[in-house]
Amino acid sequence: MAAPGGARVAATSRTKGTSPAMPDTPQNGAPTAAQVQEALGAVREPATGKTLDEAKLVADVEVTGGNVRATIEMLTPLQQMRQQLERDTRAALAAIPGVAHVDLEFRTKIRASGAGRSDAQPIKGVKNTIAVASGKGGVGKSTVAVNLAVALAQAGAKVGLLDTDVYGPSAPLMMGVNDRPLMRDNKIIPLEAHGVKVMSIGFIMDPDKALIWRGPLVAQLITQFLNDVHWGELDYLVLDLPPGTGDVQLTLVQKIPISGAVIVTTPQEVALADAVKGLKMFDEVKTPVLGIVENMSGFVCPGCGEMHPIFGEGGGKRTAEANKVELLGQVPIEPAIMTGGDTGTPQVAAAPESETGQAFHHLAERVAVQLASQSIAKPRKPTIMLRSV
Ligand SMILES: Nc1ncnc2c1ncn2[C@@H]1O[C@H](COP(=O)(O)OP(=O)(O)OP(=O)(O)O)[C@@H](O)[C@H]1O
Ligand SMILES: [Mg+2]
Repeated sequence: MAAPGGARVAATSRTKGTSPAMPDTPQNGAPTAAQVQEALGAVREPATGKTLDEAKLVADVEVTGGNVRATIEMLTPLQQMRQQLERDTRAALAAIPGVAHVDLEFRTKIRASGAGRSDAQPIKGVKNTIAVASGKGGVGKSTVAVNLAVALAQAGAKVGLLDTDVYGPSAPLMMGVNDRPLMRDNKIIPLEAHGVKVMSIGFIMDPDKALIWRGPLVAQLITQFLNDVHWGELDYLVLDLPPGTGDVQLTLVQKIPISGAVIVTTPQEVALADAVKGLKMFDEVKTPVLGIVENMSGFVCPGCGEMHPIFGEGGGKRTAEANKVELLGQVPIEPAIMTGGDTGTPQVAAAPESETGQAFHHLAERVAVQLASQSIAKPRKPTIMLRSV
């Protein structure tokens, strides 16, 4: 029997001494496969709000007498989403008369978001690419990229981090890895730290020798990193972009297939104005902006415990609202973030329960949820680019 969500349905309900029951025929008060299928299909997947049927997430259902066994796929690796989905699924099945025992299996199956420029070549095995960018330098892009990558990996996803800042690579220091990568079949094997596959120009070149390359050459190098690295299967590849919105950045965002961008800013006006330039750059190349992260959004005094908005208040929220994007998180100034960055232990690994650790986890959740929604939305039409660099 073909299930509405494309699942295999096995209705094996039988009663002793009788012939096999038809799937839709209740026996001795046992539920029918159709009843189970309908109830399951109507449960809403919490990340996207779509029903399991709409998102085709019921992988397998078996009904044997009063016993129901089902396998359900999840679009994010997030624990709280899984718990909610399990609660809702059990409640839906418990409401069917005759269901005595429920055996559920949940499988994370993150899908390719399919958004972004359809003409950029996708990276083999990589489902989603997330660009972390800003207009201004020094606002915390690399810190956000590193913590986002590690938080997604901690949630159970397969994650890579590509440091595309060839002028000032940060990943080696911030992730605490700095070996020369090995090659296999003419491809670079990325290094690994905190559960994340990492690639940076810093592994290959002396970071003190700043590259003075023009945009197209940088893009060529990055494209090589995308395609000539053994990324394997990745749910998310986080890209740490160099600061600014100049030619280098524009070339990069045109060449790389980006599923969504995260714009990092600090709360002061001068940074916010540059963040808007970053937003517009992604608009120009028809790449969805997932939202804004306000970093260094105040300092909690360790002595009095009071929050001091050193760089102003509410700037990230205002800018997000004005540009109709989500405020993905606010990360206060925390000295441990700086020391963790300098010693190769991202805050989400060093102190996941801290306020800032939680802020990065919240960011990872919102990114995973938005990409999940994109993954079940209709694919975009091909983009025709009129501007070249
Ligand atoms: N919330 C924070 N609290 C304390 N220190 C922070 C915070 N965010 C970032 N930093 C520190 O600020 C410095 C700049 O951060 P980072 O290197 O991430 O910025 P960036 O935007 O990537 O810079 P660039 O434009 O040079 O690439 C680093 O030393 C980092 O550890
Ligand atoms: Mg940086």
